[in-house]
Amino acid sequence: MPTDQLAQIERLIRISKEHPLLPETFIPWNTAEREEHVFLAEKLVSLSNHPIYSALTTVQKRELARREVVQAMYGYCWSEGLFCLFMTRYILHRAPDDPERRFLLREIVEESRHQEMFADTIENLGRKPVPLTRFHRWLGGVCVKLFPPDFAFLSCLAVEMMADRYGEHLRKEPGIFPVLQKVAQLHNIEEARHILFTKMLLKRYTDTAGFWRSTMYSLVVLLNMWFFQSTYVRAEIYRDIGVQNPARIRRQAFANYQRRFAEECLDSLLEFVNSFNGFNVLTRPLWRWVMKIQA
Ligand SMILES: [Fe+2]
Ligand SMILES: [Fe+2]
Repeated sequence: MPTDQLAQIERLIRISKEHPLLPETFIPWNTAEREEHVFLAEKLVSLSNHPIYSALTTVQKRELARREVVQAMYGYCWSEGLFCLFMTRYILHRAPDDPERRFLLREIVEESRHQEMFADTIENLGRKPVPLTRFHRWLGGVCVKLFPPDFAFLSCLAVEMMADRYGEHLRKEPGIFPVLQKVAQLHNIEEARHILFTKMLLKRYTDTAGFWRSTMYSLVVLLNMWFFQSTYVRAEIYRDIGVQNPARIRRQAFANYQRRFAEECLDSLLEFVNSFNGFNVLTRPLWRWVMKIQA
């Protein structure tokens, strides 16, 4: 490993040890919720530019935002759990003083704390998430068991980069519920280190990737984004808040939401895909079709 990379990993390990952010003390868990608090930037609420949105009452809009942010926390919690499984397997047979092993151990510690923090946030918001479908659970399990390291790290990076932008919107939204603001702040700070490390690690794969490998990498990122969006935008939530024909509305809202989500949350990730020539004659039509964006 080049000396500059080693020095960078040592620096990241040091920051993680010297400046741990404990959700127990960092998050103002006892802050009482007030009516003026918001749960989600309106532009990230799935129905916000659907004609039906203006017909919803303030209570329904508030409930929709609360339920969707719960859904996002649930999605993170689950995907971070899967990634911890992969990291544990990846470091298992490495020497205890291996720098990658030592950083990933810190990452497992932090991701374990994040999972607990997301679960506590869901409890704090007082709503049960809509469970993952059997297909999602099956696919997640298969991927984490069978994906080679470069695919698994890429999946992790894709979710982290997306979550970073999503969290930034939460953190900066005027009137955001303080618990959510601090959760987003903590996550942004710690994920920035994970992103730095994973990008560095992935360079050994992406720098030498030819056409077919770039194509596969692009598909892995695309799969992960579709995965997150489809666990997030759920007809069950529309039904629960009293929207008529929830399945139909979900179909109509989803494509629209994907375009907006790409604009608001995927800019840095799409740039990254571009950096390893991930948009090509095969993948471009797929990105357009699945993600509804001009790749
Ligand atoms: Fe995390
Ligand atoms: Fe992470």
